[in-house]
Amino acid sequence: MKILAAASEIYPLVKTGGLADVAGALPTALRPLGIEVRSMVPGYPAVMAELKSGKIAHHYAELFGGKAALVAGKAKGLDIIALDAPHLFNRSGNIYLGPDGKDWPDNGPRFAAFSQSVVDVARGAIKGYAPDLLHLHDWQAALAAVHVKFGGGPKTVVTVHNIAFQGQFPAHFFASLGLPPAAFGINGVEFYGNVGFLKGGLACADAITTVSPSYANEICTPEFGMGLDGLLRSRRQAVSGIVNGIDTDVWNPETDKDIAVQFDVSTLEKRSLNKRAVEKRFGLTTGDGPLFCVVSRLTWQKGMDILAAALDTLMGSGARLALVGSGESGIEREFLGAAQQHKGRIGAVIGYDEALSHLMQAGADAILIPSRFEPCGLTQLYGLRYGCVPVVARTGGLADTIIDANEAGLGAGVATGFQFSPIDGPSLQAALGRAARVYKSGKAWTMLQKRGMESDVSWKHSAAAYKELFSNLPESSA
Ligand code: ADP
Ligand code: GLC
Repeated sequence: MKILAAASEIYPLVKTGGLADVAGALPTALRPLGIEVRSMVPGYPAVMAELKSGKIAHHYAELFGGKAALVAGKAKGLDIIALDAPHLFNRSGNIYLGPDGKDWPDNGPRFAAFSQSVVDVARGAIKGYAPDLLHLHDWQAALAAVHVKFGGGPKTVVTVHNIAFQGQFPAHFFASLGLPPAAFGINGVEFYGNVGFLKGGLACADAITTVSPSYANEICTPEFGMGLDGLLRSRRQAVSGIVNGIDTDVWNPETDKDIAVQFDVSTLEKRSLNKRAVEKRFGLTTGDGPLFCVVSRLTWQKGMDILAAALDTLMGSGARLALVGSGESGIEREFLGAAQQHKGRIGAVIGYDEALSHLMQAGADAILIPSRFEPCGLTQLYGLRYGCVPVVARTGGLADTIIDANEAGLGAGVATGFQFSPIDGPSLQAALGRAARVYKSGKAWTMLQKRGMESDVSWKHSAAAYKELFSNLPESSA
């Protein structure tokens, strides 16, 4: 089976979050199952730099306001087709946001062009290549499913990584999309009078997946569906959830070059050297209480304001906190302020640092993920693999991947972390208290770490689930 996957970011070429990790790891996980994946990605500078020896496979005299080309080649073990369109993608800084921290004003044309190029490849723009299926990730690629429905092409699967990001643009933008008038309707891109890229993709795809079974249920409700729940309910048969795996080579504490000392489940005591390294890096004193960490976008979704409000209680319990993250400036300021106020107890690095995130998983005792909603979440899976016990909100993929250390979970020896609900300050504080108590007990904590490290967080099962889905798509269900 030949699959053309399209995503706006792909690890290790370009990454702002978990989407990149998934887009980068899934092709390798599918290969042994007989599925050959080529990955399409916009030609940002970081991508084009890796494709220096790539071949121009198609020319556009004009694509959304400028010349463009499709460049195909291998990069970091991935089979890449990049849309090289300098007028759209050759910019420094964040791939979605301008220097003012707001969406690039031309994100509509940028990702409409990207989706158009995906469909062009699907329809034979690259000689000798004809994919059997399009796997379209998030709104930036979803429009391709609309093109296919209204103009022909292979079967399509749209995967929702986060329904909060929908790609909505004013109605007049429709005229530039090259779609027939019928596509501006309830079965196409029309969404409350505007153009909705994700809405269109969800209406037109042969199958819709999201990144955990719980989130698949949640997005069909008004509370989590963000306006798309009605459409998703009407397509309930086409919606499923497949939990993300992780790349167990990139995230392997036995071989990780970014950590101070490598370890495995039988040499857990070596983690203490990584802990010292984290303390040093964040200017923290050593102490008896647990060292919590956060590796996250600092946003409302991630519940970072809830955590910020709980810091005084956390300090009261003798714990320490190391945080790396960036996002909303108000939340960034709050953590920097807390680090000033609790010198030696709270350390905050504002920014994005992949290597540091590995060291933190290897050295901190627990990772905090108090998300208000979480389609899957990857940092709790990295935590499991590194013996960094996850303390998570009971929502979405967090609920599906962590087994709570309540009496039953501990008693049966199956627990892997701590869950809390409702998602608010008091219940987060209660979970932190529970975690601190189990940490003090020593033995039960070690059991949690070991269970986590032994649990299977690889792509094995989920890759098989994708294969099953890809192989059994109903005849034109959209
Ligand atoms: P999301 O994609 O919603 O941000 P995920 O948990 O799925 O959440 O994925 C986040 C990814 O980004 C993980 O690989 C995590 O380690 C990484 N990450 C997030 N913030 C940072 C940061 N400040 N520095 C390094 N890595 C980060
Ligand atoms: C999104 C979600 C996150 C998920 C990731 C990869 O960014 O917010 O929960 O893990 O996509 O699927």
